[in-house]
Amino acid sequence: GNLNSLIVASNRVPSPDQGSGSQGGLAVGVMNALSRTDGLWLGWNGNTEEAPSRDIDHYDFDGVRFATFPMSVEQHRLFYIGYSNEVLWPLFHYRPDMIEYNREKERGYLEVNQLFADNIRSVMDESSRIWVHDYQLIAVGHLLRQSGVEAPLGFFLHTPFPPWDLLRILPEYENLLHYLSAYDTIGFQTDLDLYNFRDCMKRGIGAEIEEDGTIVFDGRRSQADVYPISIDIDTAREMAEQGENSPTGQRLKRSLNNRPLMIGTDRLDYSKGLYKRFQAYERLLERFEERRGNVIYIQISPSSRTDVEEYAALRTTLERVTGHVNGRFAEYDWMPLRYLNRGYDRASIMGFLRQSRVALITPLRDGMNLVAKEFIAAQDPEDPGVLVLSHLAGASRELADGALLCNPFDIDGVAEVMERALSMPLEERRARWQSMMTVLQNNDIHQWSENFLAAMNQNAEQRREDQ
Ligand code: G6P
Repeated sequence: GNLNSLIVASNRVPSPDQGSGSQGGLAVGVMNALSRTDGLWLGWNGNTEEAPSRDIDHYDFDGVRFATFPMSVEQHRLFYIGYSNEVLWPLFHYRPDMIEYNREKERGYLEVNQLFADNIRSVMDESSRIWVHDYQLIAVGHLLRQSGVEAPLGFFLHTPFPPWDLLRILPEYENLLHYLSAYDTIGFQTDLDLYNFRDCMKRGIGAEIEEDGTIVFDGRRSQADVYPISIDIDTAREMAEQGENSPTGQRLKRSLNNRPLMIGTDRLDYSKGLYKRFQAYERLLERFEERRGNVIYIQISPSSRTDVEEYAALRTTLERVTGHVNGRFAEYDWMPLRYLNRGYDRASIMGFLRQSRVALITPLRDGMNLVAKEFIAAQDPEDPGVLVLSHLAGASRELADGALLCNPFDIDGVAEVMERALSMPLEERRARWQSMMTVLQNNDIHQWSENFLAAMNQNAEQRREDQ
């Protein structure tokens, strides 16, 4: 193998502080791919400095080589807070009302994408393939091509991709499409995102779509396809078993006192539908009186992107609604809603998921949602819980048969689905769980990274032949 044959670039890299085996889906999939080939994972080190040096910090962690670097305070403000999370994130999650665009942010976005491109060039060699991740780094491929790089370039978008009539709300949206055309291989979470992307390329910049789906623009050919991200089933199950039996897991069990648990665990983000979820829970208690005192809902939501105004506002809203619901329905020996504005280690979370009768995954929009998949893997096959899943989460494209789908905007509908989930007979729970488990077994995280990398190789091969 060559030295840096696979280079992965993402804004965040798994942090060694979290300890091995405690990473999310992207981390597991990429770690897995990287530990099999020689490669390197490049990204932001999570720090901001007034005047950062250009030095890259190299280290090994869990058998994978990392290369990380800091950002300046201004780059962080314009690129990360600004363009990534106040422009692209709301746009890609169908929330144009939350977009706060200005040209300076776009400039900062390009500047940091250029920094990534430069750093990639400094670590790559002739044999390198480059796999770029997510909305923060869309322009990296284009900037690499501009500086003469002809290596295979792949891009995977972890979020949804918006339809044409939404995308064109963004000033200079043509640029984004142009940047994407630099990649040979482009991956999306669902068929709908892929459809939107092709449509945008056609209408937005006049790309040609060939019969087999190949996108041709400006003399470059791109293959776009669907690669639904997934999880490591065995690790998730093992952690869930461990977590359930840990002191934390046992303490949770005692506190439930035999009442069924509904759980939600999401970053505190407006795309997750937390406010409407709380309202649906209130509606459940309002309409199904026998549920009062006979259910506990735990929502675990650590703060996220606190520098973005909308996130701070959401936090205040959730505190208010929690107080309202508990004030309205609590008894001296029962608190209906436990809202925790903090994170827990992954083993504890997995143990909580295993002890839950119902998982509430009701985003207003979500690329995939890996908690849905983790919940499935965490269940005890003898006594599995029920997945309540928004039809607007990417995961619903795969899990529609086993999950109870809901529309998160329909408060009454979600309340009814909650009740149906809470009272579902064991036999039906088992059948639904088994069907979802089969889906995961056919597409786990290893499959995901293998499929994407195989496509990258095939496209590279094709390019060589075409030349
Ligand atoms: C989503 C995005 C990721 C991002 C993560 C955490 O899952 O798709 O790219 O890393 O949220 O957000 P943060 O802004 O803290 O990196």
